[in-house]
Amino acid sequence: MCGIVAYVGDRTAYPILIKGLQRLEYRGYDSAGIALFNSGIHVYKCKGKVKDLQALARDEDVGGSVGMGHTRWATHGEPSDANAHPHRSMHGTFHVVHNGIIENYVHLKKELMNRGYVFYTDTDTEVLANLIEDVYREQEVDAELATRLALTRVVGAYGLVILCEEEPGRLIAARKGSPLVIGIGEHEYFLASDAMPIIEYTDRVVYMNDEEVAVITSESLDLKDLYNDVKTPDIKTIQLHIDSIDKGNYAHFMLKEIHEQAHSVTDTFRGRIAMDESKIFLGGILDVMPRLIEARRIIIVACGTSWHAALVGEYLFEEYARLPVEVEYASEFRYRNPIVDKDDLVIAISQSGETADTLAAIRLVKESGATILGICNVAGSSISRETDAGVYTHAGIEIGVASTKAFTSQITVLAMMAFLLGNKRQALSVEEYRVLIRELTRVPALIAEILAGEEKIREIAALYKEVTNALFLGRGILFPVALEGALKLKEISYIHAEGYPAAEMKHGPIALIDETMPVFVLATSDKLYEKVVSNIQEVKTRKGKVIAVATRGNTDIYKLADHVIEIPPCHEALSPLLAILPWQLLAYHVAVMRGCNVDQPRNLAKSVTVE
Ligand code: AGP
Repeated sequence: MCGIVAYVGDRTAYPILIKGLQRLEYRGYDSAGIALFNSGIHVYKCKGKVKDLQALARDEDVGGSVGMGHTRWATHGEPSDANAHPHRSMHGTFHVVHNGIIENYVHLKKELMNRGYVFYTDTDTEVLANLIEDVYREQEVDAELATRLALTRVVGAYGLVILCEEEPGRLIAARKGSPLVIGIGEHEYFLASDAMPIIEYTDRVVYMNDEEVAVITSESLDLKDLYNDVKTPDIKTIQLHIDSIDKGNYAHFMLKEIHEQAHSVTDTFRGRIAMDESKIFLGGILDVMPRLIEARRIIIVACGTSWHAALVGEYLFEEYARLPVEVEYASEFRYRNPIVDKDDLVIAISQSGETADTLAAIRLVKESGATILGICNVAGSSISRETDAGVYTHAGIEIGVASTKAFTSQITVLAMMAFLLGNKRQALSVEEYRVLIRELTRVPALIAEILAGEEKIREIAALYKEVTNALFLGRGILFPVALEGALKLKEISYIHAEGYPAAEMKHGPIALIDETMPVFVLATSDKLYEKVVSNIQEVKTRKGKVIAVATRGNTDIYKLADHVIEIPPCHEALSPLLAILPWQLLAYHVAVMRGCNVDQPRNLAKSVTVE
């Protein structure tokens, strides 16, 4: 997903833009560029990282107090200097940075070429720049109106910032489907794809809505929709703090975020559990609680790690709230013709709150009458604003592309929702409800214990860092944790890894087992332990290597597995919160030993806001 940052105000724009692009680096990208108003518009852009852009602009006059920057994650056109943003219109009147996809750009490009426009890149963004210029020149209107008229012809998603050479001192921004946040300072304004580049300058922001266009100068912000209706900016105060976006003493954001989980899980339930641990409060869903109690079915839509959390949620809601659950990949759900009605509860889980497929999935069911909830980590994100209600995970900013603390916070929210609904639907006795709440409050201390055992996990990582394949097995509520462990390893170390229900071994994967195949097994002391032992034996008889996560005190497992990672006992409902930690650390250390870019794995972005 691309990153956008822009500035207009009393200060020199260049350093603010560069630092802003660096703040967006975690989103993943393959090229970067900036445009500065400095007696005319000057553009510096290149394939590569922000440091390459700085080298390109090093000896240039990078003055000017208005400008915009962009980091590109290629969707149209391969990564190259020419395809990097900003893009210029043919006559140089407009420069544009864009996040999103213009679906009808081929048709628009043909039309513009027939009107004499020449193109120099493969991107859909250049088409946008020329479309705006064509309207501006032909209809002799100002840049803002030209932008609005041009955008009414566009099909697709965009987050846009535009500079017009003939209207110095102003930024034009437009949003549809790709997020844009406006930061309000003193005699200065900021624009960015998310709040990260803004929070060190101001805590006052406006989250743009779809089909809104903003005209911004150092002293003013004017907001309209595409059809010229004036909109009142909804100014929010954000709670983020600058020190949460640096690595501190950690080598990578991912390691920092793994080690934050005792605190982040605490933050997730802080203020949501009664002092006497007798009940759970989730203020964000209070208004819709009657509809949740009466719900006939829960449908959870998500992607990636959030989809794994959804699978854990399925076990929790069915076991403790006695509600049937369907878990759907958002990308599949949005293109089916699903049967959803007013008795359904649809839950969207998304760390970023901006994943295009998940956003599309909830938009698909809006007309169904179902109650739609969001479980998001970013306040003010699109999904959190487009659902009827929801619960923020409060995990704090997650910068590492590989999601870790967001996953455990998502499960914490799902557990609280399942226990609360179980109580409200009389599926749980008062005593059972109390026990579950008390067990949840014990989890942060148990997380800290496991993370303190990092060195042993690093030693195991060293033994398996060169393998080419790996298998992760789990059963019951830990099956989704096996999937998540496999995803962590594959996405940051590039080792092919698969997660499977342990019992599925006999239906195919066992053919893969030999002495080169490490099998990572979740063998905690729960009701399925003996079944898992049988699966471990099946692996061992085929010379596979077994690395087991087991409950402290289980001595038998040492006779079975090649390596054992112990975790403290906890209530089965909460075991995913503990069992995932060894696999997060394993993936991290394997990736580091393989020299991979842990925080920005190749080909990946932190949030996939394009489909
Ligand atoms: C997880 O480590 C990945 N970064 C990815 O699978 C991610 O979980 C997925 O893209 C969903 O993102 P979201 O939670 O922001 O919607």
